[in-house]
Amino acid sequence: MSIQTTILQASDYEAAAKQILDAPTLAYIAGGSGDETTLQANQTAFKRSQLQQRAFAEFSQASTQIKLLNTRLRHPILLAPVAAQSLVHPDGEIATAQAAEALEAGMIISTRTSKPLDAINQVMRQNKWFQLYFQPEHKTTASLIKQAEENGAEAIVVTLDSPIQSVSLRAQKAGFTLPAHAQPALLKHITPPQHIHLTPDDSVIFQGLMQQAPALKDIEWLINQTHLPVLVKGVMALDEIDQLRAIGIQGLVVSNHGGRALDSVPDSLRLLAVMRAHTGKDFPLLFDGGVRSGYDAFKAIATGANAVCIGRLQLYALAVNGAQGVAHVLKLLRDELELCMALTGCTRIADISEKCLWRHD
Ligand SMILES: Cc1cc2nc3c(=O)[nH]c(=O)nc-3n(C[C@H](O)[C@H](O)[C@H](O)COP(=O)(O)O)c2cc1C
Repeated sequence: MSIQTTILQASDYEAAAKQILDAPTLAYIAGGSGDETTLQANQTAFKRSQLQQRAFAEFSQASTQIKLLNTRLRHPILLAPVAAQSLVHPDGEIATAQAAEALEAGMIISTRTSKPLDAINQVMRQNKWFQLYFQPEHKTTASLIKQAEENGAEAIVVTLDSPIQSVSLRAQKAGFTLPAHAQPALLKHITPPQHIHLTPDDSVIFQGLMQQAPALKDIEWLINQTHLPVLVKGVMALDEIDQLRAIGIQGLVVSNHGGRALDSVPDSLRLLAVMRAHTGKDFPLLFDGGVRSGYDAFKAIATGANAVCIGRLQLYALAVNGAQGVAHVLKLLRDELELCMALTGCTRIADISEKCLWRHD
């Protein structure tokens, strides 16, 4: 099917992808959990936030470079972990990695990648992080960490907001099922552990799924398993963040899983402001949820993020034009971010602060 949308800004990829993806796949990608309250709130939050323009600054030495843990990045816009990318393009994560390599962008590779890590490693030399979902048995989790280390991962990002997959009702109603070619490549040869035996009085959630949710001691175990820095994605309770910092995590991804985990939690931008106030200015905070433009990226950085990640946008661009699409969407986001910096008087990412947000109402 030909695409009728002219792509001039990053969010145009969403409109274009809607014209080519089949309805169940689109519902799976675009949908959120529950009533999609958080999904909608993520984007509304950006629309409410306004900028403070400035006229006088000198840009001949301006740059968007940042250092994040041990990774140097040309721009603070990364690719969030997104599973099953072969769903929308035959080259899946390999195409995404090619785009990231070409643009020197960071990519966080999902545990549920549809392509093996060694194939991704062949096309992407640097700036790879690995997103970890704990597996029911530690030996499987340990083998995932080992593969990530062997294939050049520079950090581990462990996701903690979805021990129960809150299936999107939109996707269910559309009849979505994950096809064979998009199944997780890293989990293919793993023998599933024995099923937990439930009595008729037991709950599938309490005595079933939640028995496999990682506890604080498992995160401690993870930190001891690897020489890589460990970050946590999707924790919002401040006392739990304190516990995680006390055992040695080195950063957070402020995230509500793009409205795909617990519905009705606050939008990501609001969470970010609270987390930055709590953690102080030097603790690395990445951000995701609702970023559809470089303006959004700028607003998130002004609210306290060191860098932002894009989830759905990368899949839409991948669906529309493979590696070139992902490279193009990153370029469009960067151009918009630079435009915001230029017109708000910020010559470095470190200059972007809450002073760049309009506060006079
Ligand atoms: C189709 C899809 C698959 C995802 N897979 C993962 C995953 O495997 N691991 C993970 O931590 N987050 C996953 N996420 C969540 C993203 O990392 C990110 O938190 C979210 O997409 C950000 O919101 P945005 O889509 O509005 O940018 C997924 C999101 C989508 C849309």
